[in-house]
This record gives sequence, C-alpha cells and structure tokens, in this order.
Amino acid sequence: MLYATNNYDNEDFIMEKIIWNESFSVGVLELDKQHKKLLKMLNKIIEAKNISVDSEAISDVLTEMTKYAEYHFKTEERYMIKYNYPNYAIHENEHKEFLRQTANFCIDVTEHKESTPTEILSYLEAWLINHILKSDMKYKSFVNKKGLK
Ligand SMILES: [Fe+2]
Repeated sequence: MLYATNNYDNEDFIMEKIIWNESFSVGVLELDKQHKKLLKMLNKIIEAKNISVDSEAISDVLTEMTKYAEYHFKTEERYMIKYNYPNYAIHENEHKEFLRQTANFCIDVTEHKESTPTEILSYLEAWLINHILKSDMKYKSFVNKKGLK
C-alpha cells in the first residue's frame, strides 16, 4: 500500500486507494461498516484527484464525506457516552478538529485554491488511517468488554 507523501509539487502524484482490512476492525459491526464507507469516500476523492486537479467531484465528495463523518462521529460518541468511556473528551476533540479542518477544505475547494486537492487528500488519508488505527483502537477493547459487537 502506498501512503501519501508531502510532495505537493509533483504533478504526476498518484495516490493508491485504501483497502479496508481486519487491522481496521474495532470489533463493532456498525462502526466497521461506517469506517468502510468513509474509506470508500476517500477512495472516490483519490480517483477524482487522479483524473483532474480541480475536479468538481472533489468538492461534492468532500461535502458528502464531511456530512457522513459527522454522522459517524455521533454514532461513536453515543456509544462512548453510553458506556462511560474514560477518553471520551480527547476523542471527541479529535472529531471536532477533523470537522473544523474539512469545513476549511470545503471553502478552499469552492474558492479554487491551487494544490488544495493533494493537501486535502494527504490530510484526509493520514487523519482517517491514524484515527482509526490509533484513537479508535483505544476504545476497541473497552467497548468490546462491555459486550458491544
Ligand atoms: Fe473516532
């Protein structure tokens, strides 16, 4: 799997799609499904990026993804509140930061700022992978012990 680099100047910069695998599983079917959908949306942006740098598809999918991420974060946070997850506040902050950042990207795309698509992709990819594999994994054993599957 090829991950994004910070080489924003490379015009031929091509990103590989991210394929969900078991290492992404948080052991909760509903949340795994939502993570898969988020990765699918990310892959759509990767495809759009490879076609055209200022493609309108990027703006559409970015908006769609932000909305879906918000919905997904609410699902996670609902479980955290329900089971009294001790790291809730830290986790919620990460979600808020993501939504703040993607809202800024939506504005950038609307204003047709140059080189934004690659920056957006690098951020989205790094954030999603890091967040799922590190932060979400921290609640995995906690919610699984509470019987959530
Ligand atoms: Fe999360």
